[in-house]
Amino acid sequence: MKRILVTGGAGFIGSHTCVCLLESGYEICVIDSLSHSNIKSLYQIKEIFLKKKINIKDKLKFFKGDLIDKEFIDSVFKKSKKENKPINGVIHFAGLKSVSESVLNPLKYWENNVFGSFNLIKTMLENNCTTIVFSSSATVYGNTSDSLIKESSKIQPINPYGSTKCAVENLLNDLFNTKKDEWRIAILRYFNPIGAHPSSLIGENPLQKPNNIFPLIINAAYEQKHLKVFGNDWPTHDGTCIRDYIHIMDLADGHIKALDYLISNNSQLINLNIGTGHGHSVLDLIKTFELINNVKVPFIFSNRRKGDVCKLVANNLRAKRILSWFPNRSIEQMCRDGWNWKMLNPNGF
Ligand SMILES: NC(=O)c1ccc[n+]([C@@H]2O[C@H](COP(=O)([O-])OP(=O)(O)OC[C@H]3O[C@@H](n4cnc5c(N)ncnc54)[C@H](O)[C@@H]3O)[C@@H](O)[C@H]2O)c1
Repeated sequence: MKRILVTGGAGFIGSHTCVCLLESGYEICVIDSLSHSNIKSLYQIKEIFLKKKINIKDKLKFFKGDLIDKEFIDSVFKKSKKENKPINGVIHFAGLKSVSESVLNPLKYWENNVFGSFNLIKTMLENNCTTIVFSSSATVYGNTSDSLIKESSKIQPINPYGSTKCAVENLLNDLFNTKKDEWRIAILRYFNPIGAHPSSLIGENPLQKPNNIFPLIINAAYEQKHLKVFGNDWPTHDGTCIRDYIHIMDLADGHIKALDYLISNNSQLINLNIGTGHGHSVLDLIKTFELINNVKVPFIFSNRRKGDVCKLVANNLRAKRILSWFPNRSIEQMCRDGWNWKMLNPNGF
């Protein structure tokens, strides 16, 4: 049985991916500082399996710590080796993700996202672990006129958050190009993950004021307070930004497919867009949310936000072809699962 290290595994995408990893028969070690998450997400994962009468006690281990601390990362690898279960691969989610905060505090983002990744990757190499799935972002593409963004589209981030993702991608590319027979690397460029696990036992749980639109829509609907929609003068059908929303479980599944693919193929580096290939404007999303959940989402228009781009929609053909991965959950399902999570857990974890 393969053992996978999941950094940032207590967070939104990490926790949903942990469920899929366990379902696929992997054992996991989670590293998380809990700076932006709650340990209860991991307890809830156990609950999901208990409901199916499956005990995952020994298959999920948690290590609280920060990737800024290289010795800590090394200790996790060493403990695993001592148990005769060396870590076979890493899914690296741990990172800060607020575009607006990164504009205000780029040093914090470079330290956490780039230096943290550097420590992790160096420790992996020292422990003979060279398989990694890295959480990158569509933000690396910046402003583009491409209607559907391909992996070969120009990389030109327009905010520090995107620059940090780009820097880690570059580091992984340099490593791979130096020793092509050593590394197995999948760089996943996510579009906009939303929704929640269908059990409503885990979901998105922002500890600070959220920056992305979906948790803001949920809060506006729940509290019946106005949501700010940034800009109604973008060159789109209704003037609001267009994004490629993807159900969190489709995104999580993409990680399992990427990991399985890396493990069963020769060393390589692949960049993959992980989106549905369909764009929805902010107003489209609000209307669908209102309709499917029978709830009003009050909103007002506000000025465009610094660092935002007009349209980001994936060309996802490469991921479909290489991984045989097919996102199939609808925008309605995303809205329903996200709202159910909120209704059953109004204060999060
Ligand atoms: N959610 C999105 O819309 C989105 C889109 C594109 C890319 N991403 C990337 O995916 C990854 C996961 O995102 P998420 O939405 O699950 O965010 P999240 O904040 O819910 O999860 C990130 C987790 O990493 C942990 N963490 C952060 N820095 C750490 C460090 N230095 N050491 C240890 N743990 C640390 C946090 O405590 C948190 O649990 C991030 O790297 C993010 O940049 C997210």
